[in-house]
Amino acid sequence: MSQNLIQTLNDLLVNELTASNRCLAHAELCDEHGYGRLLEAHERRAQEEMAHARALIGRLISLRARPQPARPDPVAVDVDIARQIRGDLQASEATVAGYHQGIQLAVEAGDQGTRELLENILREEQEQLSWLQSQANQVERLGLQGYLRQQA
Ligand SMILES: [Fe+2]
Repeated sequence: MSQNLIQTLNDLLVNELTASNRCLAHAELCDEHGYGRLLEAHERRAQEEMAHARALIGRLISLRARPQPARPDPVAVDVDIARQIRGDLQASEATVAGYHQGIQLAVEAGDQGTRELLENILREEQEQLSWLQSQANQVERLGLQGYLRQQA
């Protein structure tokens, strides 16, 4: 078993938990401001991130490694929606890169099961990334106020 791969799975796990916290915080802020559409999108993302975390924990257990989900990174909650989107976009790009790295390590370790799991999660991460890119484009095209009017 590759210790490098185990460490990477644990890093990805912490990243998923951090992402889930961030989406929940954003959902709550959007709720407070009446941006119902954005609230629902962030809630769905939070659930998806939680499902990714569970899948990684399951994989670590099946590899007889200890999942270490205890310390997600601190989340800087931004009340500015445009900055939220930019921050999420950056985090999402880093997450996609992290899964590519994990897949590479799984390939090197000859671990087909982990590779398939990470590829499946990566597909969902890429969908999130493209959703965030589309939100950032809309903010640019419509201006923040125009974008927010569509989110009520
Ligand atoms: Fe995720």
